Amino acid sequence: MTTATTGGPATRAVGTPHVRLEGRDKVTGAARYAADHPADGLAHGWIVPSTVARGRVRSLDDASALKMPGVLAVLHHGNASRLTEDFVGTFGPDATTQVFQHDRVPYLGWPVACVVAETPEQAREAAETLAVTYATEPHDVDFRPGHPGAYTPEEMAVGPACTEKGDVEAELAASDVVVDAHYSTAEEHHSPMEPHAAMARWDDGRLEVVDSTQGAYATARDLALLFGLDPASVHLRSEHVGGGFGCKAQVRPHLILAVMATTLLGRPVRVVLTRAQMFTLIGHRSPTAQRVRLGAGADGRLRALEHTALSATSTVREFIEPSAQYGRSMYDADGHRTVHSVVRLDVPTPTYMRAPGEAPGSFALECALDELAERCGLDPIALRARNEPAVGPVSGLPFAGRRLLDCFAEGARRFGWDGRDPRPGVRRDGRWLVGTGTAAATFFTGARPSTAAVTAHADGTFTARIAAADIGTGARTALTQLAADALEVTPGRVRVLIADSDFGDAWLAGGSMGTRSWGWAITLAARELRERLALGEDIPPDGLTVRSDTEQAVNSLAAYERHAYGAQFAEVAVDPGSGEIRVRRMLGVFAAGRIVNPLTARSQLTGGMIWGLSMALHEEAVRDTATGGLVNTDLAGYHIAAHADVPAVEADWIDDPDPDDPVGIKGIGEIGGVGSAAAIVNAVWHATGVRHRDLPIRPDRVVLMPRP
Ligand code: MOS
Repeated sequence: MTTATTGGPATRAVGTPHVRLEGRDKVTGAARYAADHPADGLAHGWIVPSTVARGRVRSLDDASALKMPGVLAVLHHGNASRLTEDFVGTFGPDATTQVFQHDRVPYLGWPVACVVAETPEQAREAAETLAVTYATEPHDVDFRPGHPGAYTPEEMAVGPACTEKGDVEAELAASDVVVDAHYSTAEEHHSPMEPHAAMARWDDGRLEVVDSTQGAYATARDLALLFGLDPASVHLRSEHVGGGFGCKAQVRPHLILAVMATTLLGRPVRVVLTRAQMFTLIGHRSPTAQRVRLGAGADGRLRALEHTALSATSTVREFIEPSAQYGRSMYDADGHRTVHSVVRLDVPTPTYMRAPGEAPGSFALECALDELAERCGLDPIALRARNEPAVGPVSGLPFAGRRLLDCFAEGARRFGWDGRDPRPGVRRDGRWLVGTGTAAATFFTGARPSTAAVTAHADGTFTARIAAADIGTGARTALTQLAADALEVTPGRVRVLIADSDFGDAWLAGGSMGTRSWGWAITLAARELRERLALGEDIPPDGLTVRSDTEQAVNSLAAYERHAYGAQFAEVAVDPGSGEIRVRRMLGVFAAGRIVNPLTARSQLTGGMIWGLSMALHEEAVRDTATGGLVNTDLAGYHIAAHADVPAVEADWIDDPDPDDPVGIKGIGEIGGVGSAAAIVNAVWHATGVRHRDLPIRPDRVVLMPRP
């Protein structure tokens, strides 16, 4: 381990609340998102989605569309330019990029054409009249446990599909208490406020692109690869992004089509997804069917832990929701098994979304533990304390810090947990039954290689450049604070420029590793610059620039179990007559590394907790097995927790600097969304005495599940 530098230099911008630097631009409309950038001669593309769930395009008659006002071109599989086959991007092989490369229709909503016109309205009008016929085949979109097509691969994107140690069956048989329960979660959609948009144009032999992406450099690199271009000839920017949550981490059809169209027409082209298209073209979280089997002695100590998780993927690309990985680092047992399986259906390809794996997986396992605590007559926090592992249960590696129980202690104190009556269904407040629940949280922490450049100017100001993305998290502000501290100047003297692929390779805003990975690179460059200035080095007219590359540093991190932790608490009120559930308050206490900007960090953590509320009670994409499509592809039908759903949500943290990070950061991107659904579901049990195991807990599910 390297020496921790957690105190920070004299300026101490890190740890001090700071409003978003671009906040004023955003609220006044001055900030330009991808669809806001103007261009002379701009043309507009409109995607035509398939209307069948499986088959082939038989005919596509573009003659009448081409005669419509303003229409410039109709792109489809019969005329589109060829893309790199067997494309392997930042996240591995990805056939979802093969737009218009074949006539196969793998799901309802797959792009079959793109109309380009002078205005979006003209493009849309022509797109809606385009005559497409299909040779249809029977489809299967019916996700269900025990699906005959389910299989277990060797590997998932994030690790092995299965882990096993000891003898689960023998340990279960020898256990005093056994919990064996099935859980399900609904298909969920990222639903950022800003729909995906891209504008592309050729300028002097260079492809100039503005895209709503979580990673300007990775997207530019993948785009070049897909189109067979020299990477240096692609310049991509994404200065402002209105939410991502995982769905803006890859090259998506809107971008591919903008590039195809501008290449064909020689004019700038913009393609914007509609809200409905956001439910088919950009990934989602698969529904899950999980089973948890726990066996314990009468004292609550786990002897057996088995977590199996089934998710769905498309016929285009295998993506597995890694729900069962949660228990691999969290809880030990003599017999320990985690298994993922997946079934290929005629549905769009899922992807990483808001704590992939951990969000649905923690719901199942943390609810099963609550049930185990009940059966053992133990307080849920005491049960978790009894099962704190000394080393990684599967890896055997030591923990690089694990302050889970400290989170519980602080959370219990502030929430008022002590003295809680464990009996369910006994507290009334008028028509409401009231209860409280808790759950643990964890998320992997790490850093990925990034490069940065920091420049000192003669006027005493500094500019840092890094291909980071601020998707609403406040990353730009956090990086400014980090640069200021490393330079030992006030943040007002530092300008941080981000989201430009010309700034060089950098990790993307994902995996809860954005700010940490970028902050590391900026800190190294800024510290070296400060030292050189302190030694009296002159600043030339174009500034003195120091570059950093963290590849060696992050790749030589010693092998540890590296995680952030949290304790989630919730109080709910349930009306058993109407089935309405009101969350009254939530508290999350986290041990998640040094907090750079308490203002935006609190916002990120409470946002994650609200996602958990939303997962527990609201979010559910409903697929119609007859057509194969979703029936609720808008934000009215697909309900995400809104203001009226959200009570007093409080997030806080305990001191937990990462000793191996130059500033002590771990990463807080996703942990707020872990365990929060389970805390609510456990509180619903405490209120009503009913164990809900299928999410979301809609009012009809409350009404239909009789209380004991
Ligand atoms: Mo996130 S699901 O790591 O973009």
